[in-house]
Amino acid sequence: MTAQPTKLQFLPPDLKRELLPKHVAVIMDGNGRWAKRQGLPRIMGHKRGVDTLKDLLRCCKDWGIAALTAYAFSTENWKRPQEEVDFLMTLFQKVLRQELREMMEENVQIQFVGNLQALPPSLQAEISRSMAETRHNQAIRFTVATNYGGRQEILQACRAIAEKVQQGLLKPDQIDEELFESHLYTAGITDPDLLIRTSGEMRLSNFLLWQMAYGEIYITDALWPDFDRHEFHRALSAYQKRERRFGKV
Ligand code: FPP
Repeated sequence: MTAQPTKLQFLPPDLKRELLPKHVAVIMDGNGRWAKRQGLPRIMGHKRGVDTLKDLLRCCKDWGIAALTAYAFSTENWKRPQEEVDFLMTLFQKVLRQELREMMEENVQIQFVGNLQALPPSLQAEISRSMAETRHNQAIRFTVATNYGGRQEILQACRAIAEKVQQGLLKPDQIDEELFESHLYTAGITDPDLLIRTSGEMRLSNFLLWQMAYGEIYITDALWPDFDRHEFHRALSAYQKRERRFGKV
């Protein structure tokens, strides 16, 4: 996890530690536009996006945020040009291989959520290895949504639960929120408190549909490769000014 200047290494004094989100999720949008503006091919935006993600992960750790989840590849992203899909799959694999040692040194626990069986077998192997090796790390929980779709996640949970009912292992009235959550890809991960989306789009785009029921959403016009610690500071300041009521008055 090298690259990127480490300005704002410590939690900025105007942020209240006790009001920080415990779990931040990000939709890393705008890589292609960033590259276009620089006169570069789209894939260079994704490469630069990896550096941004690495610095955000380190920043969350530095500032005491316990979990970060990033939307790396959606179930809809397969419709992109084959060249770009291939590039992204290779990039994920390369980054995982390169960063494993540092994740161990930095005590990062990485996990992947999504329909992982449909990913290239060599990437699946790298994913399994990194998840197994980092599983006891405790400094920060880093979740990467890859071939992830919120609707698909909910459907596969319904199917798994229906099968248990059919086999007589469960009764329909035992299906409550807790049981349902335990069948999601994100079982055991607390819901995000704050979702940040870059590049100004105001959509969830099939990301964490169940989990974001009460999460705060922050949208910035910054393109993902430009999302630095100062941008993150702004997002956290805005979050700390909000009143979270969870449906209560
Ligand atoms: C969206 O920008 C970005 C993606 C679909 C890919 C994001 C992936 C990374 C930053 C790499 C993460 C790596 C690891 C190992 C987790 P876009 O292409 O939709 O941009 P545009 O809207 O400007 O076209």
